[in-house]
Amino acid sequence: MPSPKKVFAICGSTRASSSNLNLIKAIADLTQEQFIVQIFTDLSKIPHFNPDLDNDTPPSQVSAFREQLRASDGILICTPEYAMGVPGSLKNAIDWTVSSMEFYQKPTALITASSVGEKGHRALLETLVVIEAKMLEETKLVIPFVRTKVSADCKITDAHTLVEVQNLIQAFAKLMDQAT
Ligand SMILES: Cc1cc2nc3c(=O)[nH]c(=O)nc-3n(C[C@H](O)[C@H](O)[C@H](O)COP(=O)(O)O)c2cc1C
Repeated sequence: MPSPKKVFAICGSTRASSSNLNLIKAIADLTQEQFIVQIFTDLSKIPHFNPDLDNDTPPSQVSAFREQLRASDGILICTPEYAMGVPGSLKNAIDWTVSSMEFYQKPTALITASSVGEKGHRALLETLVVIEAKMLEETKLVIPFVRTKVSADCKITDAHTLVEVQNLIQAFAKLMDQAT
């Protein structure tokens, strides 16, 4: 039996009753035999990116964030789209990793779960490509109308979405296996 993979899951929404947070919890539940999922919900505590502070002693929240990314076998991002783009606090956190390269060749899965989500998804994929996150087509997914598909008690209630998420999990697990 292979050892469980450490997945660092970043929720792009800072809302307490976020559908994306509920989705991450649903995925953690579905993968409890395979993954150890650590959920990061502290995007709003990461200071604004400033290249002048991106030196050997960055803000402590940034060091901790980078360390958690580094320690993981894979990164799962679940995020809404805001104003046709990537939520600012998520983009801000990723900007802190450009120089330190935590995403470089790291198995990564991106789920944009929103009302629509296509544009934010495409924009974030461009960023993830430029920082060389390791992704497959099968580790990218848009879930539109998310509020009708993930319940407040963290269950994926839409059968088609459940299959899509299970396929993504399988591809993500394979990507992590290949990397180790
Ligand atoms: C400021 C703001 C902007 C939004 N803009 C978009 C948008 O451009 N596209 C979209 O699909 N949904 C948009 N939404 C709706 C979100 O997709 C929806 O609220 C979603 O449930 C948020 O994710 P969460 O439940 O994880 O917080 C926006 C919501 C907010 C608060």
